[in-house]
Amino acid sequence: MPEFDALFAAAAAIQPRAYAPYSRFKVGSALLADDGAVYAGCNVENAAYPVGTCAEAGAIAAMIAGGARAIRAVLVFGEGAELVTPCGACRQRMREFAAPDTPVAVAGPEGIRARFTMAELLPASFGPANLPR
Ligand code: THU
Repeated sequence: MPEFDALFAAAAAIQPRAYAPYSRFKVGSALLADDGAVYAGCNVENAAYPVGTCAEAGAIAAMIAGGARAIRAVLVFGEGAELVTPCGACRQRMREFAAPDTPVAVAGPEGIRARFTMAELLPASFGPANLPR
């Protein structure tokens, strides 16, 4: 998917700016939104550990602040030998604004390592339509 080139560049560019003095694990994330723009975020840790936020949360916050409301594609960028797949909480955060077939790519410095759909990462999920109107 060609949009992943732009997402990879944006996530790789923001990853070094992450504030991760505790885990020393810097993550960057970028998403393509319904307005055609790319929004990026990085993890921001905290001395009160549970208060830290993931890169995906930052990218979603940037998207909402920028005025967009839907995620068309997501990429997560991190280092290390293992896949940097989104944590459970971020899967739910993404699901709020994504469709079941929205692609989610996981990348390392060398490029994309794996691709999933939103529904693969969070099957039988609870979303806005599950709430009574
Ligand atoms: N982290 C992310 O930002 N995104 C992910 O997809 C996985 C984990 C962050 C949270 C924490 O700051 C650090 O990586 C180690 O878990």
